[in-house]
Amino acid sequence: MTEDAYLKLLAEALSRAYAPYSMFAVGAVVRGESGRLYSGANVENAAYPQGWCAEASALAAMVMAGETRLTEVAVMADGDHVCTPCGGCRQKLKEFALPGTQVLCYSLDELRATFSLEALLPHGFGPEYLS
Ligand code: THU
Repeated sequence: MTEDAYLKLLAEALSRAYAPYSMFAVGAVVRGESGRLYSGANVENAAYPQGWCAEASALAAMVMAGETRLTEVAVMADGDHVCTPCGGCRQKLKEFALPGTQVLCYSLDELRATFSLEALLPHGFGPEYLS
């Protein structure tokens, strides 16, 4: 997929955001181990804590398609600051992330920053602790 097509996929996800309270729309795409891409957007709620992030929506789409391993995550949001996944989403992503998973942070028109998930959640607790 070209960078333009990837940007379009992220922008389409972001356009589906339901964010009438924060007015902060976020789109996310996760790449499953198969190479397939799964999109999601944030979905807020009048009972504020019941809303969820774009990353959670994308993860749910991936799991519903039958995949439980991912290699890459991309997040898109508008604004001056680079939008990185929140703490809770870093943990949610770790559950499914293969070693070396990259997190790509986009503004509306370009890649702004890339991090490893390990850098965003160092020494994170994962499923291996329970086996
Ligand atoms: N949000 C996301 O969807 N992903 C992030 O990476 C950061 C924050 C959402 C949650 C909430 O709907 C809005 O952005 C403002 O926090």
